[in-house]
Amino acid sequence: MTQAETRWQVRVNRPIAYDVVKTPDLFAPENDTLMSFGWPQGRRFVVVDGNVMRLHGDRIEAYFQQRGIEAKIVVFPGGEENKTIEIYQDLARKLDAFPIHRRDEPIIAIGGGVLTDVVGFLAASYRRGVPHIKVPTTLMGYIDAALGIKAGINFNGNKNRLGAFEPPRAVLLDRSFLPTLPKRHLLNGVCEIIKLAIIRDAPLLRLLEEQGAQSIANCFSSAEGEAILDAAIGGMLAELAPNLHEEELARRVDFGHTFSYGLETRHEHHLLHGEAVLLDILVSVLIAYHRNLLSEADTARVFALVRTLEIQLDYSVLDAQLMWDALQDRVKHRNGQQRVPMPQGMGRCIFLNDISRSDLNAALSQLPTWIAPHNEHAFER
Ligand SMILES: NC(=O)c1ccc[n+]([C@@H]2O[C@H](COP(=O)([O-])OP(=O)(O)OC[C@H]3O[C@@H](n4cnc5c(N)ncnc54)[C@H](O)[C@@H]3O)[C@@H](O)[C@H]2O)c1
Repeated sequence: MTQAETRWQVRVNRPIAYDVVKTPDLFAPENDTLMSFGWPQGRRFVVVDGNVMRLHGDRIEAYFQQRGIEAKIVVFPGGEENKTIEIYQDLARKLDAFPIHRRDEPIIAIGGGVLTDVVGFLAASYRRGVPHIKVPTTLMGYIDAALGIKAGINFNGNKNRLGAFEPPRAVLLDRSFLPTLPKRHLLNGVCEIIKLAIIRDAPLLRLLEEQGAQSIANCFSSAEGEAILDAAIGGMLAELAPNLHEEELARRVDFGHTFSYGLETRHEHHLLHGEAVLLDILVSVLIAYHRNLLSEADTARVFALVRTLEIQLDYSVLDAQLMWDALQDRVKHRNGQQRVPMPQGMGRCIFLNDISRSDLNAALSQLPTWIAPHNEHAFER
């Protein structure tokens, strides 16, 4: 006979609440928004991307000086190669040398997705959690990386292998950082907007077709550009908010994030995240076309959009085995099923669990005819 067991139950609901605030000219002396989260006169540990510091550092430093805020500004080298445990430890040491109040002096992260991911993880782990604010300065951060609660660093050869779900105190959006972003990085963010448009937002796709090229040219400073960004942010938050901790593993925002995982892990120094995602999207669109989920006209629209927006992709990185292995890896990550989001008509999505190696091979062999004749050298190495 087994002994009667005793059980104490602990059940706690901890609400997650944070604001995403679009605030033009965040570092204008009269703008109070940044300091309105936490003690307005408290100290701040501020981590700034190196390129952002070089290009915008004067106004960031002046902002704190003019307000008499004791701010420790730490410069962080951006780029995927710096999303490491060493950089994380370095930041942790610097933070430890600048004691902040654990609840009311939020850490401020100003930079791209790499910086906000690393600083978010630092905030999650330092003294078991201190508040943080994200100020994205890349388009990737603005419409994607900074909006949710995922934080992390690359580890042991894997992307984001160490990380946490850590809600920020706020995400503050200021488009004035975008004009200094290199064009390739601007387009990197556009790839994620294309993803959202195909999978959930047909009007956004039309907006991209009609206003995308011009908006890229003016770094999204026009009303049309702002409309594209607002639609992308609204769509992303609508997808993320009901599933912040990813209890549901079939996620529409994972469109383009299956095969790309292998591509960007293998070609870390060569491919940007959004570029890998767009390569995945183009292959996925062809799988959808072969499965009669997308019409020929809609398939052609996607390829035409990539040309219209002049996004250059290195198709030579596409490798059937690498992409197939990435799918198997994602099956593990998604609890034993493929759960691959696929467009079913423009702006709608279903999930496939039976993509075969021959589906992938067929899509890859068809790809050159879809990107030609505009890109006839795409497969030259
Ligand atoms: N947490 C999430 O949910 C999530 C979602 C998507 C992507 N991500 C992560 O985001 C990362 C990619 O982010 P990213 O594309 O922003 O890369 P990044 O942070 O490396 O920034 C790209 C480059 O732009 C520079 N830069 C940043 N802002 C600038 C500005 N205003 N002017 C000039 N240069 C500027 C940086 O120094 C860097 O060289 C990846 O590590 C990816 O895993 C995270």
